[in-house]
Amino acid sequence: MIKNELLKLETLPYFTTTLLHSITSENKNTLKKTNLKKAKEILDFAEKENAFVNSIGEDVQTIYEVVENFKDKKNFELYEIISENKTVGIISSFPNPKRFDDDVISIGAMYVLPGQKGKGFGKNALKLFLQKAKEKGFKKAFTKTWSTNKASNKILKFLGFQKIGRKEKDRVNGDDTIEYLLEL
Ligand SMILES: CC(C)(COP(=O)(O)OP(=O)(O)OC[C@H]1O[C@@H](n2cnc3c(N)ncnc32)[C@H](O)[C@@H]1OP(=O)(O)O)[C@@H](O)C(=O)NCCC(=O)NCCS
Repeated sequence: MIKNELLKLETLPYFTTTLLHSITSENKNTLKKTNLKKAKEILDFAEKENAFVNSIGEDVQTIYEVVENFKDKKNFELYEIISENKTVGIISSFPNPKRFDDDVISIGAMYVLPGQKGKGFGKNALKLFLQKAKEKGFKKAFTKTWSTNKASNKILKFLGFQKIGRKEKDRVNGDDTIEYLLEL
């Protein structure tokens, strides 16, 4: 009896930490609609970090130029990721009419600023973005990443995305491109 009570006490800190983590990570950031000027400010950091890996044969463009190409197009959305009133990153979607029907949202550039990575902002931002897409009536979400991108592959798997395609050695660094789809 006494042993069992002690066991309960020992496991309490673990549950408390896990609970606190889930509460804080649920509430740690929000999304705010933003504009191209702010997107450039944020994505210039990505450029300096070489944060994105292009596909072979793609036009050589900065990540900001890629995003800018989609302005004024259907299903283009641009959000700043905000934590404690500070900008910590950006997330966007883009039109993909050749590949999908109108009820599929395609997630484009997602980026968390230097010094802010690895704090759960990316994962939570994508979760919030998908909730908004669902509320707007989208039925599925598509996205793609490169094979050695541990953070994004982990986030996509965690959120339930299924792998639907793989293009081998498709990226300029020799990585494969992995395509993902999620039922919303
Ligand atoms: C991808 C990116 C947006 C993720 O945002 P983030 O806020 O850094 O990621 P999170 O803190 O939400 O981490 C999500 C998970 O990935 C893991 N992770 C984060 N960075 C990692 C890394 N460098 N290596 C391994 N795992 C990593 C975290 O541990 C976390 O896993 P957990 O939930 O099991 O603890 C961010 O790293 C980034 O801006 N990368 C450069 C641009 C990019 O790759 N964009 C996506 C292209 S498709």
